[in-house]
Amino acid sequence: MSTDASPAPRGGTHDGVASRDLRSLPKAELHLHIEGTLEPELVFALAERNGIPLPYADVAELRARYAFDGLQSFLDLYYACMAVLVTEQDFYDLALAYLARAHDQGVRHAEIFFDPQAHTPRGISIDTVLDGLGRAMADAAARWDISGGLILCFLRDRPVAEAERTLESVAPRAHDLLGVGLDSAEDGFPPSLFEAVFGRAAELGLHRVAHAGEEGPPAYVAEALDLLGVERVDHGVRSIEDAALVQRLVADRVPLTVCPLSNRRLNAESSFQALPRLLEAGLVVTLNSDDPAYFGGYIADNYAVVADEFALDDTVLAGLARNSIDASFASPDRRAALLAEVAAWSAR
Ligand code: ADE
Ligand code: ZN
Repeated sequence: MSTDASPAPRGGTHDGVASRDLRSLPKAELHLHIEGTLEPELVFALAERNGIPLPYADVAELRARYAFDGLQSFLDLYYACMAVLVTEQDFYDLALAYLARAHDQGVRHAEIFFDPQAHTPRGISIDTVLDGLGRAMADAAARWDISGGLILCFLRDRPVAEAERTLESVAPRAHDLLGVGLDSAEDGFPPSLFEAVFGRAAELGLHRVAHAGEEGPPAYVAEALDLLGVERVDHGVRSIEDAALVQRLVADRVPLTVCPLSNRRLNAESSFQALPRLLEAGLVVTLNSDDPAYFGGYIADNYAVVADEFALDDTVLAGLARNSIDASFASPDRRAALLAEVAAWSAR
């Protein structure tokens, strides 16, 4: 990382003044809520297709609501917009639109979160969701050679018994999943609540990740490691407040899936500004987009905004892309192939 106090604009699509377009950097996306890729135009198109009335006159009025004062205010709109997702084709269209953008942004591997508990209470079966998302991923693999998988997230602010029922309902199709995660409102909903359901996910052979240390305290990060057995921590940025925890994460090489534009849009500017300290501490940082339709940019835009803000050079940026591939659940062969693509980018 450069210590230059007045960074030159560099690399990316965020501000259009890139010296090197960071869309060309091969990367993995490890923290992406598919429902958070629902662009306002698609909200309106699906509402019309499904005959669902919307409380907004047009796209501009909906977009005007994207002024969040924290995680909960974002989540309120995020869940409300999902009402337009009904059929298998809706989930396919949503995911294929994301994957087309991901391809354009240099994503070579995508591990995609979805929130079944935001759909099943509306009468939509988990099979409808999985079939649509899975078909889009298969098409993206064939069209663009994007690998990846689906991570089922439990909503931590809903009853634990509902999470257990959700997992059991999908157990016969566990082979269609890469893993499980934990998301939604964090404060007051510690990882410890979900110890048993994560234990069951491990029995089913699923990978485990969890949001922790986004708005919740560093203690939630430790709980996610100790009680849920997570292999990565989603966000995890508030770990920086606890030196012993940072030491542990560095020693165990636990990846953090950091989402800069999300932090900035959810008024967690101190989290956004923590990135250089996370890097200097030696943490395994990856950059991701979280809910790009709501936060003003996709993954290459996240790379670009931190490159500009913190004057990160190509070596650091390639290192972040390498981290994303190393931290993925891709096969060893696939990881080796993608790491070679990053090396080729660096050599160019
Ligand atoms: N669901 C979608 N985006 C989220 C975020 N940033 N934190 C927690 N839950 C989420
Ligand atoms: Zn998230």
